Amino acid sequence: MIYLKTPEEIEKCRLASDLVSRTLGEVAKWVAPGITTRRLDTIAREFILDNGGKPACLGYHGFPGTLCIEVNEMVVHGFPSNYTLREGDIIGTDCVVELDGYNGDSCYTFAVGAIDPKVEKLLRVTKESLYVGIEAAQAGKRIGDISNAVQRYCEHEGYSVVREMCGHGIGKSMHEDPEVPNYGRRGIGPLLKPNMIICIEPMINLGSKNIVIEPDGWQCRTRDRKPSAHFEHEILITPDGPEILTTFKYIEESLAAKGAGEF
Ligand code: MF3
Ligand code: CO
Repeated sequence: MIYLKTPEEIEKCRLASDLVSRTLGEVAKWVAPGITTRRLDTIAREFILDNGGKPACLGYHGFPGTLCIEVNEMVVHGFPSNYTLREGDIIGTDCVVELDGYNGDSCYTFAVGAIDPKVEKLLRVTKESLYVGIEAAQAGKRIGDISNAVQRYCEHEGYSVVREMCGHGIGKSMHEDPEVPNYGRRGIGPLLKPNMIICIEPMINLGSKNIVIEPDGWQCRTRDRKPSAHFEHEILITPDGPEILTTFKYIEESLAAKGAGEF
């Protein structure tokens, strides 16, 4: 069941999306060699609570963090821990905020200091593929058009697309229909209609597409232990094209203030 949103619901998703974007902007200030992922998680949780939101992942089916922490080969759903970031790592921070009953969901993968140029390119291409997918999210087209656009863009660069995890509809619940895969055929799947809100979130591997889920049932890493990148925006389908409700502008401001380059 795909819920089309009312103007009031769209406004609530817009505010939740802005808060999750600002949360990741705060996290961005602190990503550096020497910080633990648990400290980043605490910073995110306190920022959300200080701003009247609820950390939606925390306790969701027992998930133990505000952020999903994705270091290097971690694809999704990594736990905050005592792991201390090191120069050359990459770290994805995936966050969902509930505000006034509606959810904002976004993810950004950061470079920790200087990283291998091959991994830097993986980050750049994965981020670009998110915008390529968003551009395909036009009313009257189908979910498969988004999926196909992301897949073609990433595979053209020699990367592989994780199959088991998808984007999703979002609203009152963090996961609603439809599923938004990052691979598939053009022209298939649910029709995109104005007032749908979906999350597009490519999870792209440097090596093979295969993943392993740890015995804890959550933490998902690449089977070959090569790095994986992940970026996510929440978007509204409008008659005039996709509108991105989340934004990376706060992250970009934080990175610029630190003198850390974008890729
Ligand atoms: N941001 C994740 C997603 O895009 C959130 C789910 S993680 C969980 O679907 F911990 F909340 F399960
Ligand atoms: Co999501």
